[in-house]
Amino acid sequence: MNLDFDSDWLRLREPLDDAARAVGLAWAFGRILPAHPMIIDLGAGTGSNVRQLAMKLGRGEQDWTLIEKDRKLLAKAPGEIGRWADRNGWEHKEQRRAYMITCDDMAVRVEMRSFDLAQDPAELGLNQYDGITAKALFDLVSQPWLERFVKELAGCGYPPLLATLTVDGRVEFSIPDEDDGFVLDLFHTHMGRAKGLGGPALGMAAPGVLVATLTAAGYKVEKAQADWKIGPKQIAAHLAMIAGYERAAIEQDPGSAARVHAWAGRRRHLASEQGARLLVGHLDLLARR
Ligand SMILES: C[S@@+](CC[C@H](N)C(=O)[O-])C[C@H]1O[C@@H](n2cnc3c(N)ncnc32)[C@H](O)[C@@H]1O
Repeated sequence: MNLDFDSDWLRLREPLDDAARAVGLAWAFGRILPAHPMIIDLGAGTGSNVRQLAMKLGRGEQDWTLIEKDRKLLAKAPGEIGRWADRNGWEHKEQRRAYMITCDDMAVRVEMRSFDLAQDPAELGLNQYDGITAKALFDLVSQPWLERFVKELAGCGYPPLLATLTVDGRVEFSIPDEDDGFVLDLFHTHMGRAKGLGGPALGMAAPGVLVATLTAAGYKVEKAQADWKIGPKQIAAHLAMIAGYERAAIEQDPGSAARVHAWAGRRRHLASEQGARLLVGHLDLLARR
């Protein structure tokens, strides 16, 4: 299956992710890393994880490798990272196929690597890295993919893994609608469709399977909830979520299109006119030896 993530959507979700993430786990991840860590970020999109983590790791020099199969997203990473550096008043420049961000007490080097995670994980060369990160990736993978990946981690000496913003299936609208359950059931079934990573996607089962697989392999796992709390100020994200639920539910059951469209219309009204809020549950997790 071809799965495209829209850069506009990734940009819209970035502040939600930033507000949601369990900062204590990011700090704890930073403390495990050496003074000048090499970090690999899987399913990197346009590099959001670098932007959110670089200042939380307490490490002045950092080398990041962004792994992403969508070349269009990867091509946007330098621009997004450059704008982030500009907003903070830092210097940035392209240097030998990498991007450098510098300020008084920090130097962050970011390299982009086009790579399909469906390939053998041994080709990632994980043993060269001090830490592994991934944001909003593990609900897309299958159980066999995860097992192979975790086996590779164990074989590479158990590098620490910071896996954030994995959906756990909790969706709560502050003003309920009678068809919320109907549409969300279709949506969550749709999430289980294969995404090209070894079979049916884990979807909302991902947090539990991730914890169990890492623990069985010998990792110690700490976890924390990292929920999106979408209120009237995040109306664009709320409307995008409704559109996403609507699209997926209809794809899952085209015969229910009229009912799903009607639900989405009511939900848009509740969000835009009545200030309805939306909570989307996620789990952040830090795995270490
Ligand atoms: C939900 S997005 C998250 C992107 C980014 N981590 C962020 O938080 O903004 C999932 C990302 O995983 C990438 N992805 C999905 N399947 C992949 C694969 N087989 N190999 C590499 N990247 C993949 C997608 O292209 C997308 O950028």
